[in-house]
Amino acid sequence: MRLAIIGGGNMGGAILLALLKSAAVPPEDILLIESDGEKRQKLGNATGCNTQAEIDEAVRSYDLVLLAVKPQSSSAVMELLAQWLLPEHVVVSVMAGISLQTMRRALGQTKLVRVMPNIPTLIAEGMSVFFASDEVGNEGREWVKILFNSCGSCLEAKNEDAIDAATAISGSGPGYLFYFAEQMVSSANALGFNEEEAQALVQKTFRGATLLWESQQVAPETLRQQVSSPGGTTLAALNHFQSKNVGESIQEGMRQAYRRAKELSS
Ligand SMILES: NC(=O)c1ccc[n+]([C@@H]2O[C@H](COP(=O)([O-])OP(=O)(O)OC[C@H]3O[C@@H](n4cnc5c(N)ncnc54)[C@H](OP(=O)(O)O)[C@@H]3O)[C@@H](O)[C@H]2O)c1
Repeated sequence: MRLAIIGGGNMGGAILLALLKSAAVPPEDILLIESDGEKRQKLGNATGCNTQAEIDEAVRSYDLVLLAVKPQSSSAVMELLAQWLLPEHVVVSVMAGISLQTMRRALGQTKLVRVMPNIPTLIAEGMSVFFASDEVGNEGREWVKILFNSCGSCLEAKNEDAIDAATAISGSGPGYLFYFAEQMVSSANALGFNEEEAQALVQKTFRGATLLWESQQVAPETLRQQVSSPGGTTLAALNHFQSKNVGESIQEGMRQAYRRAKELSS
């Protein structure tokens, strides 16, 4: 696979670094197109990939074009890109809220993939969900899997609606966990731990619980039941959450996130 990345900011830069670290694609097979000279030079020096400032005919010698600019730059970037695209190009977008229909119209291209990554992609621990149009063949799908598995894990969705659903779960999910972490850190502070201790207690608890869950491959209810003995401390807190409908409120929050993702999709 030869890959052109348009936009070497937070997400494009992270994907580039993760892909090279996985050694799935050599740097000479990657072109980074980034308008900001400082970012371009920094990533070019760090990776040894080809770089340039503007979209031009060079994209024609790459198989896959990854769009990683802000959604508000998408129209201008797609207009520039459209003139250089070949029918065999696969165009992959991580741009939030830009639908395949919008891309199809702007690019005049049918081999399109929409991806929802999340913020842990920045440390190659991301969870990405992608949906590819029917015209993308097996080889194109494999390229997308190589790309986003190098950034953590990825899942292929059966329809485009699942991208909005994934936005509400894995896309926004880190934000929900940070919110829960905030409440735990505040509680730890109130119970006498200093900020550093409180953050360590919460961080290591999240990390250990996730690793345990991954190692056991069971439903979270099973683990929750295992740690909530009758008359114990965990159950005292969980009973309180239940009496306040915290579980229902969390699920309603995710439904709202899904609705918002649909509203923002154009
Ligand atoms: N960050 C996340 O956690 C996250 C999660 C999911 C999805 N996404 C999606 O990822 C996309 C990128 O987000 P980001 O946070 O990485 O944005 P970002 O840091 O602003 O990166 C975008 C880069 O693209 C450059 N650029 C703009 N127009 C260009 C052009 N015509 N040619 C070449 N380069 C161009 C920008 O340069 P200038 O600064 O000079 O304009 C900037 O360096 C967004 O669409 C967002 O929805 C991000």
